[in-house]
Amino acid sequence: MEGCRNLFLDKEAVFPTRKATREFQTKEPQATVSFLMSKMGRRALRKIDPDLDLSGYLIPLAELPQPWDQTILFDRRAALEVEVGTGKGLFLRQAAAACAQHDFLGIEISRKYARFAAARLAKLGVPNALIVLGDALRVFADYLPDQSVNVVHVYFPDPWWKKRHAKRRLIRPSFVRDVSRVLMEGGRLHFWTDVEWYFQESVELIVAQGHLLGPVVEPEAEPRHQLDFRTHFERRMRLSGEPVFRAMFFKPAGQVGSTSDSSGSQITFENVEFCKNTRSLPGSQPS
Ligand SMILES: C[S@@+](CC[C@H](N)C(=O)[O-])C[C@H]1O[C@@H](n2cnc3c(N)ncnc32)[C@H](O)[C@@H]1O
Repeated sequence: MEGCRNLFLDKEAVFPTRKATREFQTKEPQATVSFLMSKMGRRALRKIDPDLDLSGYLIPLAELPQPWDQTILFDRRAALEVEVGTGKGLFLRQAAAACAQHDFLGIEISRKYARFAAARLAKLGVPNALIVLGDALRVFADYLPDQSVNVVHVYFPDPWWKKRHAKRRLIRPSFVRDVSRVLMEGGRLHFWTDVEWYFQESVELIVAQGHLLGPVVEPEAEPRHQLDFRTHFERRMRLSGEPVFRAMFFKPAGQVGSTSDSSGSQITFENVEFCKNTRSLPGSQPS
């Protein structure tokens, strides 16, 4: 518990300065995005092998079990980790391989990316991960029951730069309440982004909801090989020298709705099992 308390760092540490991109901040946000995209060059998705059987790896939202039954999806009941917005699915397939005793549910709203990520899982024959094609907000609000999830992963969600699009942002009060509800006591939320203002606004919003403890800074790890990043977006940002802002939150044990114990003294991990290593495995190629 003492170690946990030490993880709560000051605001400076949670909100690192963004020297490298300061020049971008003087530009219009949209111009910044286009600039980054053109600088990094977005590669087209590789074609999916038409003979690949995606059943069991790609589930339309409407086909999720209701009432929720994890054993229908994974043929077993194991600790569950949920990733919102999987993109091409690097995190999901590497984390699932590194942590065979957990089940990994990815949610992706784009059909193209959901199919791509599912195809990668199918090709590798990963038994403990699958992709739900649909809106994560609905999966959380309508399907996942209370205290059913060990870890929620949110990596590089779209910031929706323009004010008139702000209502589309993932991190909103109702989503934070749902995350808090579905997490088991001691469960955690990881939230990473490369957009500093979105990070600040989101962290403040999560704290203001008062259900989760944090933010706890997640340190940056040195990659050991070319795919040793949490997600494709992290890889892209790190390779182009952009900072990444990372925060982790915990659901306290025994109560919901107070952050008065922000020293961390009431956090317990007794009933939640965590995988120690969810870093990527060597040997695969970037896609
Ligand atoms: C910027 S990408 C990041 C992808 C991946 N997490 C990464 O870090 O490489 C955001 C992804 O979230 C997906 N997304 C956006 N809103 C979503 C929602 N409500 N439910 C599920 N996926 C969503 C987008 O389609 C996109 O693939």
